Amino acid sequence: MKVRVLNGPNLAQLGSREPDVYGHVTYADLVELCEGVAESLGLDVTVEQTDHEGVLVGWLHEAAAAGDAVVLNPAAFTHYSYAVRDACAMLQGPLVEVHLTNPASREEFRQTSVVSAVASGVVSGFGVFSYVLALQALAAMDDSDMPAETNKDGAT
Ligand code: DQA
Repeated sequence: MKVRVLNGPNLAQLGSREPDVYGHVTYADLVELCEGVAESLGLDVTVEQTDHEGVLVGWLHEAAAAGDAVVLNPAAFTHYSYAVRDACAMLQGPLVEVHLTNPASREEFRQTSVVSAVASGVVSGFGVFSYVLALQALAAMDDSDMPAETNKDGAT
């Protein structure tokens, strides 16, 4: 399974960005963690970050065309970017929305995600381990006999 781990604005500043909120793990640490976990799970992963909405939309178009799975931390775009949401809706493979923090426990504006409704699932609040859990979920879905649509819709 090919997985694109896509990160939105300000996530390359991890380590120095509001460490009391986001911790001291750097973006380079996050990339290394995702690559190591993906390798151990037999997933073919790429990890990318952009501060630009159009670039993120373009990467989502590429993932849609290729049928790749996506782990997406849309960062602030989570809360207002219909362009990112609409590009996510085009994906053919599973989409896991991830967050380092638990936005539901933070400021009111973070309590809306325009992406969640088109995601297969959401992992929030476990720091960089949110990404590990997302990759584990994708690997489990890949190994499962259940059809992807069953997983995505939660139908039996
Ligand atoms: C975040 C939460 C968002 O509200 C915020 O804008 C981010 C990071 C997280 O990973 O916890 O940039 O997506």
